[in-house]
Amino acid sequence: MCPVDNMWFTHSSLGLLWILQQQLGSGSITSIKCQPVTEQVLPKDYERYDAPLEDGQPSIVQTEMAFLTLKSVDPETMTYETDIFLSHIWREPRLCDVSFSSINRTLEPKFFEELWRPDTYFYNAHSGTVQEILTKNQYSKLWSNKTIFFNARISLKLTCDMVLRNYPHDTQTCAIILKSLSYTDKELKLVWKRMDVSSQIVLPQHDVIKTETKEEQDSYGFGNFTRLTGIIHLKRRTGYFVIHTYIPSFLVVIMSMISFWLPPESAPARVALSVTSLLTLVTQQAKSSIPSISYVMAIDVWMLGCIAFVFATLVEYAFVSFTLQRKRKNTKGYTTKVNPGQSPSGRNQLAFETTKQPELKEIPNIDDRIVVANRIDRVSSFLFPSAFLIYIFGYLAHYLW
Ligand SMILES: *[C@@H]1O[C@H](CO)[C@@H](O)[C@H](O)[C@H]1NC(C)=O
Ligand SMILES: *[C@@H]1O[C@H](CO)[C@@H](O)[C@H](O)[C@H]1NC(C)=O
Ligand SMILES: *[C@@H]1O[C@H](CO)[C@@H](O)[C@H](O)[C@H]1NC(C)=O
Repeated sequence: MCPVDNMWFTHSSLGLLWILQQQLGSGSITSIKCQPVTEQVLPKDYERYDAPLEDGQPSIVQTEMAFLTLKSVDPETMTYETDIFLSHIWREPRLCDVSFSSINRTLEPKFFEELWRPDTYFYNAHSGTVQEILTKNQYSKLWSNKTIFFNARISLKLTCDMVLRNYPHDTQTCAIILKSLSYTDKELKLVWKRMDVSSQIVLPQHDVIKTETKEEQDSYGFGNFTRLTGIIHLKRRTGYFVIHTYIPSFLVVIMSMISFWLPPESAPARVALSVTSLLTLVTQQAKSSIPSISYVMAIDVWMLGCIAFVFATLVEYAFVSFTLQRKRKNTKGYTTKVNPGQSPSGRNQLAFETTKQPELKEIPNIDDRIVVANRIDRVSSFLFPSAFLIYIFGYLAHYLW
């Protein structure tokens, strides 16, 4: 029941004032206005736990979200942080028909607590707070058409499932999901009014490429619930990785290939070059990867490819060195002669025979061996860089186009 008596009292006192004003002819009284008392607005039998149904239709709660900041998109914890303004707009037809014509009142927090409110929550929130500096960043307004507008500034840490197979060329879709806790779609329907991501947001590693909104329904045994999903598409900027990973590792691989132009005899130089390159790449790989991800990412493919190339140059040198070693053995006049009837794995037997039967060289002489070693180096010096280029194009083709 609406407090009609009170209203009558208010109106009649207004009338009295008006009469007084007429009689006294004073202008000062016009400035006294009777503010609509918020208590008058609530009927006595108001149930603040019942959603305001209109003709049995669910209450429509329009929702607006404005993203003020976006930050800390973290693939390790799979979360991101944001500050949003969340507004809900809904009609409350159960309010009394007080003269609403001129009101656009900001409701007292205490009065707002007396009203029915949509009990929305963020489904994928990790943590969140309503900002409280300098006052609690939350207000509500009552509009003249019995519409209530609620607005709050909320800081949220939200989960975002990231698939990082293409890292660092990945595009992430991070969602914000809003649902009602207890009202099914027969009582409350959440609808999108607007979602807005400020164009001034600058993320250190990402660009916001687009946003979209979705209205969906979740079915549970005891009812269906509407769900609002706002999706932000984030594209990672690769500048950081080009400068800190791709270019250095590319140069290290090229550096290791310089070894093909060094003489085969200078073992310390060539081994040192390959081993330093290998160590550099292995440390860099550990640094560039995301430790908590256990599947293979694009960056891992790249780094492992580079490591494989450097390792191959080391193996190539081992091979070159081996041909030279055989050469040295031959200079001492020894040769291997394996008895065809015996297993070649009989090492002792072999050693015995080689020491026992010094023979004249059958295998080409020193100069020929050096020529062979040089030829291997020349071929490698074309083969390796070409293979590396093909690898780079393959990598780019797979992950960028
Ligand atoms: C109340 O506020 C709304 C929204 O700000 C505005 O459109 C409307 O004109 C205002 N009404 C009055 C009576 O001031
Ligand atoms: C109520 O009034 C506000 C502001 O004047 C307006 O934005 C809103 O759409 C109105 N709602 C309805 C249900 O008429
Ligand atoms: C939920 O929605 C589905 C279809 O969208 C419908 O078949 C089902 O009856 C609904 N459940 C309830 C409890 O309303």
